[in-house]
Amino acid sequence: MQFQSAILAVSLALVAWQATVAIAEAPTPGPSAGEAKHPITADEREFFEASIRPVLVAKCYSCHSAEAKTLRGDLHLDSRAGVATGGATGAVINGNDPDTSTLIQAVRWTDPYLQMPPTEKLTDREIASLERWVQMGAPDPREAVVATIAAKQIDIAAGRQSWSFQPVAQIEPPALPNDAWSKNRIDRFVIAKLNEGQIASSPKAERDMLLRRAYLDLTGLRPTFDEVQAIVNDNAPDAYERVIDKLLAMPQHDERWGRYWLDVVRYGEDNFRGKRPRRRSRSPGVIGIG
Ligand code: HEC
Repeated sequence: MQFQSAILAVSLALVAWQATVAIAEAPTPGPSAGEAKHPITADEREFFEASIRPVLVAKCYSCHSAEAKTLRGDLHLDSRAGVATGGATGAVINGNDPDTSTLIQAVRWTDPYLQMPPTEKLTDREIASLERWVQMGAPDPREAVVATIAAKQIDIAAGRQSWSFQPVAQIEPPALPNDAWSKNRIDRFVIAKLNEGQIASSPKAERDMLLRRAYLDLTGLRPTFDEVQAIVNDNAPDAYERVIDKLLAMPQHDERWGRYWLDVVRYGEDNFRGKRPRRRSRSPGVIGIG
């Protein structure tokens, strides 16, 4: 049946999604101790403080530091270890050679796919300072290894408690001694929760109203006049159930709910990493995972 296969599809999507999340959050090793020149001389320290730190703070930290709202390119430039570790595509400093160091290539804006900072090129002077810094071996007095680099831990046991990993079980609806409201087993769960929150149930909906709600819920569309008339005049006890089956079988039902399921897996029509297509590392279409 269409509805069941849809449910199966969404369950599989959820499981796949959770698995992806689990992989994405698996502990990653923190940066190793900086390979940059260290300890450094007084001159090197002065050069760093006068010409490098101010550039990094003013022009890079907003995207490449622990304070960044979102860390970009997996690159921390706010610690020696972060610079030494590099970013999503590896080391950003190559020995003492500015020309082959990604960090310098990025600030020179010669690579159309990697231009840093993205919105405004550094001044020639700032670029020259960074080049000189690389030639010197990137001496860096910054000690603190940024705390937020610490690997995220995942609690596998807690993850297994998620509802979507529970086996199907027969659950008894709550027993309600003075219940005149429920018409079926699901209603008993509803009324138990309403009682718990001391909330009165809404008044019973007339047939045309009920039909309108079912249509909007399941297909996002309103029923036509003829469809409303058909159910208002249908006195069979299973009239409502038949309408629901019809709605569940409509392609508009799949379209409406497919949209929510795609939100769950964070699908987006977006040319992900469009600025640097050759560096794409994840499948286009599914964005933001990990
Ligand atoms: C407005 C945010 C922003 C600022 C400011 C910024 N960057 Fe970036 N940076 C990014 C983004 C986004 C990426 C990832 C680009 C990609 O993967 O296509 C990146 C990636 C990088 C990379 C490549 C990392 C890798 O391994 O892929 C380097 C090197 C880099 N930036 C250096 C710098 C430097 C140096 C500065 C300061 C002079 C700077 N960035 C400022 C957003 C920024």
